[in-house]
Amino acid sequence: MSRAAIELINVEKVYEEGTPAEVHALRGIDLVVNKGEFIAIMGPSGSGKTTLLNIIGTMDKPTRGRVIIDGEDVTDYSEARLAHIRREKIGFVFQFFNLISTLTALENVTLPMLLTGKYSEKEAREKALDLLTLVRLRERANHKPRELSGGEQQRVAIARALANHPTFVLMDEPTGSLDTVTGSRIMSLCRVLNEKFGQTFIVVTHNPGVAKAAKKIYHIRDGKLYKTPPEDLMKYTWTPSVGEKNEIMRVYIRILRQELNSLKRRLTSGQISDAEYRMIKQRILQDLELIRRGIEK
Ligand SMILES: Nc1ncnc2c1ncn2[C@@H]1O[C@H](COP(=O)(O)OP(=O)(O)OP(=O)(O)O)[C@@H](O)[C@H]1O
Ligand SMILES: [Mg+2]
Repeated sequence: MSRAAIELINVEKVYEEGTPAEVHALRGIDLVVNKGEFIAIMGPSGSGKTTLLNIIGTMDKPTRGRVIIDGEDVTDYSEARLAHIRREKIGFVFQFFNLISTLTALENVTLPMLLTGKYSEKEAREKALDLLTLVRLRERANHKPRELSGGEQQRVAIARALANHPTFVLMDEPTGSLDTVTGSRIMSLCRVLNEKFGQTFIVVTHNPGVAKAAKKIYHIRDGKLYKTPPEDLMKYTWTPSVGEKNEIMRVYIRILRQELNSLKRRLTSGQISDAEYRMIKQRILQDLELIRRGIEK
């Protein structure tokens, strides 16, 4: 099987094609992102970052070119099929958060879990509280978006994107509304998830401080993508602090233990077969072991 997680082939996006208002937002983008990579795409305002991320995340379709996710050419898929792929595999942090205004922070994070049918309400709530702890927002869990600052809303959006442990995490300026310390905390979280669980991260940003958390950096300018030469990458070398990493991993130990409990419940209630139970349990135990070993004294 190919290691490519996401592949874009000659992707173009033209808004309002054929009208006087026509905008060539993407001009022939080729990109391969392998499983477990952590890439950043940097570029100035209006360069096509959001357009590109929306196409990678199947929120929008290219005007021309192909989009391949996990070996599947999804370019011509119906919206219903795409919605299914997004729910199963993709966590998306929108530039302008897109929280549901009538739901509290906690409910916004809980919702994607409940939609999968894999969690009881109590289980989803507990996991959501842990995710809000990870983004340092637990004490605001019962606030609605309008009662939260921009940075707080952004952190809810990040917790929500991580809720279903997606294979791909796509983030559009994930720290645009955050201060440096909180932003760094978020990038540490992303790095731990990338390194321990192999989740693939694609972050678009104009902030070099965020891009340095990535292991490969591209630049986009006027809808064209350029790879940063390795010698330039050196200046982005960054690792999270041990204290921060340990704190994040301790919360994840709790989350994974809870996952084992809900898995057991799904087996007992007949929602999953014995074979499925054993397979998923094995995976969770492996993750737990990795995390336990990763905690540095
Ligand atoms: N729905 C749309 N209709 C028409 N033009 C659009 C639309 N969305 C974006 N554009 C244009 O496409 C270009 C790329 O926009 P995009 O939002 O991808 O930029 P960006 O790099 O994310 O910018 P920013 O850093 O400001 O978020 C811009 O010129 C923008 O005006
Ligand atoms: Mg944008």
